[in-house]
Amino acid sequence: MIVLGIETSCDETAAAIVDDARTLHANVVLSQLAEHAPYGGVVPEIAARAHLDHVERVTGEALATAGLALGDLDAVAATAGPGLIGGVIVGATFGKSLALVSGKPFLAINHLEGHALTARLTDAVEFPYLLLLVSGGHCQLLGVEGIGRYQRFGATIDDAAGEAFDKVAKLLGLGFPGGPAVERAAAAGDAGRFAVPRPMLGRAGADFSFSGLKTAIRHIAEKLPPGPFASQDLADLAASFQAAVGDVLVDRSRNAMRAFRKRYKDAARFVAAGGVAANLSLRRCLADLCAEEGFALAVPPPHLCTDNAAMIAWAGLERLRLGQSDGLDAPARPRWPLDETEAAGRAA
Ligand code: KG4
Ligand code: ZN
Repeated sequence: MIVLGIETSCDETAAAIVDDARTLHANVVLSQLAEHAPYGGVVPEIAARAHLDHVERVTGEALATAGLALGDLDAVAATAGPGLIGGVIVGATFGKSLALVSGKPFLAINHLEGHALTARLTDAVEFPYLLLLVSGGHCQLLGVEGIGRYQRFGATIDDAAGEAFDKVAKLLGLGFPGGPAVERAAAAGDAGRFAVPRPMLGRAGADFSFSGLKTAIRHIAEKLPPGPFASQDLADLAASFQAAVGDVLVDRSRNAMRAFRKRYKDAARFVAAGGVAANLSLRRCLADLCAEEGFALAVPPPHLCTDNAAMIAWAGLERLRLGQSDGLDAPARPRWPLDETEAAGRAA
């Protein structure tokens, strides 16, 4: 079984091909960084046009890399949401067109399910597992029981973790995208220099809050000498912020682990996914937590944590294996919560 995946929900135009032996035959990711950099963030209209310009070439490149023709595929999968709707429409419509001309099944994939299932592609993780999904738009802890079966243990009540990284990076003048820039700056920093709050720490449950962190960093930054930041101040600010995020992720995940263990009869597998899980310092915090709590940890390699189409192809393959497919009238959805995936799938 071999499936082509297409991803266009944010600022990466991506195409990839995977098979059911978990082999990645091609994984092409074209980042639109240069197009959006002058605006300090992703501009939806620019993203949609860039996807339109590039999706055909990127997909052709994936097929060429794999040495395959459309006719060799078993299905075409494309992200159908959630995301910037213009881009989602471009990728989903292109995927449907390829399915139509080749007579192959089409799969409309929830981008979040792509992140959620990546660890099954990279590490063959078995159900059930506890998932920490941390990306630019989402921050949640989910019990993953099976394909389309997600139970929420907690979620952010305001900003997503990646959003916090992006906003802090902007505040510190570190540029876009913020996560990798903050991680680089933090490497030379002293995480103990500034007292940054740990929102929700010690509270019951597994919800998150990140908006106060950004405000705290702004207040600290305002007390520093005016003008450009000294490089050590910048590093210390970035490190203090990153350590606070790490402490919060660990504390919330620990509560979710204990609840997960109870609900799933001692199952103890933990997966982190999404762009923020590419952060090496946060990965270390989570590894320590798993060691303490006796959970087995799987985190995809950084390039499969950030947006890619391998995860879309894989989610498509998992659904195809269960005999599922979607009609060419499957809608593009700007919002599509993961714990509703099951209901949406059944309705389809
Ligand atoms: O999963 P992703 O590529 O796209 C979404 O689905 O949102 O996640 C993007 C987010 C951005 O907010 C970005 O700043 C963050 O992930 N990110 C990171 C790192 N790399 C990407 N955050 C912290 N450290 C990183 N190394
Ligand atoms: Zn994503």
